[in-house]
Amino acid sequence: MGNVNVNIGIIGFGTVGTGAIKILLEKKKELKEKTGINFCLKKIADLDIKKERHIKIDKNILTTDANEIINDESIDIVVELIGGINPAKTFILNSLKNKKNVVTANKALLSEYADLIFQTAAENNRIVKFEASVCGGIPILKVLSDGLTANRILNIYGIVNGTANYILTNMSKYGKSFDEALKEAQIKGFAEADPTFDIKGNDSVHKLAVLATLGYGINVKAKDIYCEGITEVTALDLKYAHKLEYEIKLLAIAKLHNHNLDLRVHPTLIPQKSMLAKTDFENNAIYITGDAVGPLMLYGKGAGMMPTASAVVADIIDIAKKMVNNSLENGIYYFNKQPLNIYPMFALKTKYYLRFSAKDKTYVLANIAKVLSDSGISIASLLQTETNEDGSAVIVIMTHPAIEKSMISALEALNKLSVIQGKVFALRVEDEF
Ligand code: HSE
Repeated sequence: MGNVNVNIGIIGFGTVGTGAIKILLEKKKELKEKTGINFCLKKIADLDIKKERHIKIDKNILTTDANEIINDESIDIVVELIGGINPAKTFILNSLKNKKNVVTANKALLSEYADLIFQTAAENNRIVKFEASVCGGIPILKVLSDGLTANRILNIYGIVNGTANYILTNMSKYGKSFDEALKEAQIKGFAEADPTFDIKGNDSVHKLAVLATLGYGINVKAKDIYCEGITEVTALDLKYAHKLEYEIKLLAIAKLHNHNLDLRVHPTLIPQKSMLAKTDFENNAIYITGDAVGPLMLYGKGAGMMPTASAVVADIIDIAKKMVNNSLENGIYYFNKQPLNIYPMFALKTKYYLRFSAKDKTYVLANIAKVLSDSGISIASLLQTETNEDGSAVIVIMTHPAIEKSMISALEALNKLSVIQGKVFALRVEDEF
């Protein structure tokens, strides 16, 4: 390959930026040996260039002005690692217009503006790569877009948020409180700047939009995806789930039903013995079924400095190789020319877990069973092992598969019953793996 130089500018010197810079500097020689390419870090932009990052860099390459990177003619690849919509969108679009290739980890931006970004890239004959936007260090996007091209993707089940998984694992294994576990995840650098996105499910929605777009070849946006977070899940739910041989995980789900795509993020009961259930702490896992390959699962660190930086640098290398080979094309991005509708949430059919507190009286269960049967919902099992301080009972019901619409009306009716204290908490169950 000779002596090829590829110049890189990084916007965002945060957790992931620091990791990527570390790899580019510390493994410069190794990367040259592997690829024949000399990766030169030309500039780093961040609003705070004073902060100690415990990394040895030439201070002259630091700037507080991202435009110094975007407008630098010698820079080939701009790496955007600031996250959020603005100004990241402007930085990316201007970089493409200035004929630079782009690497980004920005799932929020992609889940809303992928069409604009890829159109701008195509118009300028440049590439945008985004492996780090989903599941940190797991090269899932490469697998979906390259390794599984021969398949029709039947379903994707992902544990794609390290922070939520870290919290649920700590609640499940050690009975820790939600707040305590969240604080730990933040200290370890897994959480987003605003952890609301991690715990309310939005971050998983952003990632599912990217996964589904690649897997199904249509432009899936965050607004197409049903979203429910983990903030209402309690240690008691995990205890009950275990009694029923389930674990609770925040799942990102995409399922094909003929020409309908079922897209949702919510806390889900999954069989305790499944590989997904064994995905603990900040680890992520993606379980995919392709019509040819069958089911497969990828597992690894989905958040944190070095795992995410691994994906960023892989994208830089990939682009650099394409530059060398003069093949700057993003590939077929929206390949599915057939209309694929979003499956309506109310038509979903799953088993449900219901947990509520009720008076410990003879007629209570009869009333509850009647409400459920009036909505055509059949009870599969019932547990009553805990008692509240006031003598009321905690009751858990597992249903047979029921239609979401019926469950919504049953929940409304149950919540009106005077024998039920507070509200009924419902979780969906997925047990096909
Ligand atoms: N906040 C994200 C997570 C970081 O916890 O998974 C990686 O996208």
